[in-house]
Amino acid sequence: MDNSNEHAGRKALVIGAASGIGWASARALATDGCQITLADRNIDGARERVAELGDPHTAAPVEVTDEASVQALFDQTGPLDVVVNCAGFSNVGLITDMPVEDFRAVIDVCLNGAFIVAKHAGRTLRKGGVLVSISSLNGRQPAAGMSAYCAAKAGLSMLTQVAALELGPRGIRVNAVAPGFVHTPLTAPAAAVPGVVEEYVENTALGRAGTPKDIAEAVRYLCSPSASWLTGEVLDINGGAHMKRYPDVMGHVMKLAAQ
Ligand SMILES: NC(=O)c1ccc[n+]([C@@H]2O[C@H](COP(=O)([O-])OP(=O)(O)OC[C@H]3O[C@@H](n4cnc5c(N)ncnc54)[C@H](O)[C@@H]3O)[C@@H](O)[C@H]2O)c1
Repeated sequence: MDNSNEHAGRKALVIGAASGIGWASARALATDGCQITLADRNIDGARERVAELGDPHTAAPVEVTDEASVQALFDQTGPLDVVVNCAGFSNVGLITDMPVEDFRAVIDVCLNGAFIVAKHAGRTLRKGGVLVSISSLNGRQPAAGMSAYCAAKAGLSMLTQVAALELGPRGIRVNAVAPGFVHTPLTAPAAAVPGVVEEYVENTALGRAGTPKDIAEAVRYLCSPSASWLTGEVLDINGGAHMKRYPDVMGHVMKLAAQ
């Protein structure tokens, strides 16, 4: 799909742009002609990415759980056409063993942070603008040992629909993509556990795990004017894994620990 002319001259903000899906999304939008602010709590990483892209792109620090930090970021960007929020992480642990602060930490970034970004994106996006968040296959497919992440992403999928209803009358579209297992620094520890990727792949229709580019292409489409009648959507992009079942991550971790 070549959206290059559609994006030319648009101003975009990508949060979580220093790594993985955020970086691939920023690169795709830059190729299409967007002028991008690459924001991340890893500001050194964001600056390195900007150096790879060159002018006119810029880097900015942000911590999505801190409203003052998010407010300062949007003050710095000024009016925008595209906001992509990729900040997120997961932890693993059974509910009965998990310290409450570990649960809260994931909810804080993946759900509360997504709310704070949606709030300020909604105030800053121009008419015709678009917000895309990164939900997850785990927003609809449960995985034992991933209670916080599954709950946060299910919440983010619903938050996306509520925001689409509230911002639609102002001409702002709100969508999410829900990736399956994608090879990034975030999933490297899980991918290193024997059996996790293999079981994921067995439970896809297309027989492979994803790449950041697979997801960036969906983000690119949702951000483009080609998707101008598309809002309130959570787009599954997972090789068909939503039709089967999620791998038993916890089981594979316990098997490894017992060795
Ligand atoms: N990789 C996968 O398999 C997968 C699957 C489904 C959903 N996702 C989601 O996609 C998004 C991107 O994941 P990824 O795999 O590219 O991970 P990643 O770790 O490679 O990149 C995430 C980036 O977000 C930044 N970040 C994290 N917390 C932040 C915070 N509180 N404030 C500001 N920046 C923050 C990190 O510094 C990092 O640069 C996440 O929301 C993740 O939950 C990933």
